[in-house]
Amino acid sequence: MRLDKLLCECGKASRSEAGKLIRLGKVTVNGTVVKKADFKVDEHADKVTLGGCEVCYKKFTYIMLNKPEGYVSATDDPNEKTVLDLIDIEDRRKGLFPCGRLDKNTLGLVILTNDGEGAHYVLSPKHHVKKLYRFECQAPLSSEDVKNLENGIDIGGYFTKPCTINMEGLQSGTIALTEGKYHQIKRMLEAVDNKITYLERISFGDILLDPSLERGQWRYLTKDEESIFLRTGK
Ligand code: URA
Repeated sequence: MRLDKLLCECGKASRSEAGKLIRLGKVTVNGTVVKKADFKVDEHADKVTLGGCEVCYKKFTYIMLNKPEGYVSATDDPNEKTVLDLIDIEDRRKGLFPCGRLDKNTLGLVILTNDGEGAHYVLSPKHHVKKLYRFECQAPLSSEDVKNLENGIDIGGYFTKPCTINMEGLQSGTIALTEGKYHQIKRMLEAVDNKITYLERISFGDILLDPSLERGQWRYLTKDEESIFLRTGK
């Protein structure tokens, strides 16, 4: 692996910052200063330091992406742009996949990881990890509709689990789900003769969509944010 990539994957710097730090002579590999960003290191065997502190290679990568419209939540697709296309090619670590799916026209928080077990944990309804969405719908939602949706509703052979809705007007609000069936929110609104006109995921457990990320931009999760996957607690 390239030395700048190792520093970046370990969350020590962005790719361009890593290059600068390396050129400034702040990085050693097995005790020797290395000034080439593309220097190849064995991430499992070589001892790398930055500013005198050892940099430990991380097995798993966790990325927060602010998904724009028009991208599918897949690793590859013959006809569509995928969320992986938004990650710079040199940062597209092997095995990276979107943790849960957002529809092509849904916006907002997507987490990409190569941690299959962690993703399975946070996606399982058993663990009650809440995914919060901001929505707008075509017609006013009555309080009875809200109650029915919150209690669970038949979306065509499947009865949804209880969820929480907070209305911010008659046709918009937030909805928190602990499960993720195909087109779930759209189908839930259809079940009360309504239609979603805007959908954005704004949080995933304690991980909030970073307001500094423009649509299409991404960053690595912080240590605190990662803890939901690693179940290390806060
Ligand atoms: N529910 C939907 O209908 N679509 C999404 O993208 C996410 C939840």
